[in-house]
Amino acid sequence: MAQLQEKDGFGRLLGSSPAMLQVFSMVEKAAQIDVPVLIEGETGTGKELAAREIHEQSARCPKPFVAVNTGVLSRELIVSELFGHLKGAFTGATENKKGCFDEADGGTLFLDEIATMDERVQVAFLRVLEEGVFRPLGAPTDKQANVRIIAATNMNLRLAVANGAFREDLLQRLTVFRIVLPPLRERSEDLPVLARHFLDSYRDEFELQVTGFDDEAMELLQRYAWPGNIRELKNAIAQAAIMAGQGFVRAIHIPPRISSLHPVEAAQEIGNEEHPDSGTEILAAPCSPTDITEETTAGTVDIPLGLTLDEACQKYILATLNYADTNKSKAAKLLGMSRKTLHEKLRRWDSSKNQP
Ligand SMILES: Nc1ncnc2c1ncn2[C@@H]1O[C@H](COP(=O)(O)OP(=O)(O)OP(=O)(O)O)[C@@H](O)[C@H]1O
Ligand SMILES: [Mg+2]
Repeated sequence: MAQLQEKDGFGRLLGSSPAMLQVFSMVEKAAQIDVPVLIEGETGTGKELAAREIHEQSARCPKPFVAVNTGVLSRELIVSELFGHLKGAFTGATENKKGCFDEADGGTLFLDEIATMDERVQVAFLRVLEEGVFRPLGAPTDKQANVRIIAATNMNLRLAVANGAFREDLLQRLTVFRIVLPPLRERSEDLPVLARHFLDSYRDEFELQVTGFDDEAMELLQRYAWPGNIRELKNAIAQAAIMAGQGFVRAIHIPPRISSLHPVEAAQEIGNEEHPDSGTEILAAPCSPTDITEETTAGTVDIPLGLTLDEACQKYILATLNYADTNKSKAAKLLGMSRKTLHEKLRRWDSSKNQP
């Protein structure tokens, strides 16, 4: 239990609330015992991170951790993706193909979004859990499975069972070891540590000079309900860090949907603060030296959940450039980065866009 005594978390999982301490102790137990694990929790609560932590602390760690989102695989593809196929198993199967069970051999197979798993796959999956074997498509015999399965869902599996969409016997098998990740709104005491951690990492990554949050900004963060949980927090901190650029992150730097400040007001405050002599006129027309157009409304940019950090950063920087009338020096100043760094980022995105 030595790691549980670390102040702010367990491995890469941060938090020190009673609910998270309970999660840490379950993650540690799950790492020690080679049983299937079911991780439940709302979107963005850290299910995949917890699964990786279990794998990394388990004896299977030197072997692969393979993550597969079963919810997005088509009915036709999923069996072959999971179990592999032999050449000629179906039209188009021109080569033997290894499935995820083979790729994860000796390691951990993380099956995400299992609630929407196809009925046929549920049956095959149950067989792996019960008998430890699977059969690639077109193969005459079974193969021994040497993987630990960690499944995750952000949907209510009991409801799915009641609706006939999920097999009860499979649910029973999976709930031998069940970890539920609490939503962020139920452990707001963890928020400052998480926010600080994300701020520090974006400061380094984006070469910013931000130093922390002022009280008002932290209060706004703690007042918000975070329906997208830690992923949403992480994205919001990226945006706030870029907006602040240097010094403290203040209330005006927090994305308006979170701070509930009127977006135009927030933009005007920033405009006044950074350009005392430039008035508050904000450009709405898209313009982009890299030819990537951004839809911006006065002083705001919409960064939807699900983007990679680089995509979010790109959206944000281009919107700021637009806001600064395509003046790179002005935009770099607003973003709190050197003109050279801004120039390099734009050049990198432009060249990756032109790649085939
Ligand atoms: N306790 C935590 N400490 C630090 N970072 C965390 C923690 N929980 C989640 N994160 C980070 O938040 C983001 C979302 O986590 P993750 O992808 O594991 O969520 P999820 O529950 O699998 O989400 P989804 O249901 O949408 O797939 C990741 O960048 C992850 O590193
Ligand atoms: Mg996930």
